[in-house]
Amino acid sequence: MSPMTVLVTGGAGFIGSHTCVELLEHGHEVVVVDDHSNSAPEALERVAKIAGRPVTAYRADLRDRSALDAVFKAHPVDAVIHFAAKKAVGESVEIPVTYYDINVGGTTALLSAMQAHGVHRLVFSSSCSIYGDATKVPLTETDPAAPTNPYASTKWICEQLLADMCRRLPELSVLALRYFNPVGAHPCGLLGEDPRGIPNNIMPYLAQVAVGRRERLSVFGDDYPTPDGTGVRDYIHVMDVAEGHRCALEHLDDEKGMRVFNLGTGVGSSVLDLVNAFARACGRPVPYEVTGRRAGDVAELVADPRAVAAAWGWTAKRDLGVMCRDAWRFQELNPSGYAAG
Ligand code: UD1
Repeated sequence: MSPMTVLVTGGAGFIGSHTCVELLEHGHEVVVVDDHSNSAPEALERVAKIAGRPVTAYRADLRDRSALDAVFKAHPVDAVIHFAAKKAVGESVEIPVTYYDINVGGTTALLSAMQAHGVHRLVFSSSCSIYGDATKVPLTETDPAAPTNPYASTKWICEQLLADMCRRLPELSVLALRYFNPVGAHPCGLLGEDPRGIPNNIMPYLAQVAVGRRERLSVFGDDYPTPDGTGVRDYIHVMDVAEGHRCALEHLDDEKGMRVFNLGTGVGSSVLDLVNAFARACGRPVPYEVTGRRAGDVAELVADPRAVAAAWGWTAKRDLGVMCRDAWRFQELNPSGYAAG
């Protein structure tokens, strides 16, 4: 397909930065808008280094309409990939209004700027968390949404508002991708997940334990109705997620309107499976202790990934061992994340 100019919101973040590399390596132009509230500008330097091409980037909040207008005026944007959002489930329970404001308000501001500048193609970053406490696995795209926290609700509201926009504006093509649990890092070790403060998510926490930054992992509950009692998730390598976005971009014009796909592997792994796989990857035991359940956690979330495979021939290629190997390489080479520069 012919190269596109792609506006990537949240392009300096974990999934955004890996997607930028993938797009640049396939000849697309990338324009990043990121407010760096949970990302380092250094990530974009590294994207440029890996791809061997400069990255155009703006520091802006999506709700700043004049900043957004200036970006659309300066670049012939063909499509938008919208990652920018807040994503900590626990925090969303503490400050729900902020989550609605940033995640939903950011999306409506972006949509109105896209309309004003005649941009009709969008890939939206959704989440498996919209399925809530699933009563069955694997989950297909037609299973009901039942968000259990404000973060998940913001993603579900955005999906609904996008579907509504598509019904009313027939020129729009929107793809919402529901990611399961993205982990891992670019295999070169320059790009990875570098959360601010104490990690909420298990993979960066495990990596920080293995490198000696934290004492031990707390395993949140071993009394779930799962084979070993710990929570089961569908971990997916961030490079697979990045490739999924490039594929999505290339299939945006297949149809007008709104389409929704799961991005997962279809393989469920427990917390203890992940601890063991990580210990093998880093060649040392990773200390852990079982503590109580974390509020809001669900027992098991696994994708049925067949719909996207049937539509585009896309499937995730990397297994749990590769996810751990790459997450560990990034942690080992960047023990303090991007902070050391
Ligand atoms: C959650 C959201 C997901 C969101 C992601 C982003 C749900 C169901 N999922 O993923 O949509 O995109 O956050 O932040 O709301 N665990 C431990 N110890 C830890 C950390 C986690 O045992 O220190 C366990 C959890 O109980 C869970 C698994 O590890 O079973 C994965 O947890 P985590 O990495 O935080 O991701 P989710 O909560 O699945």
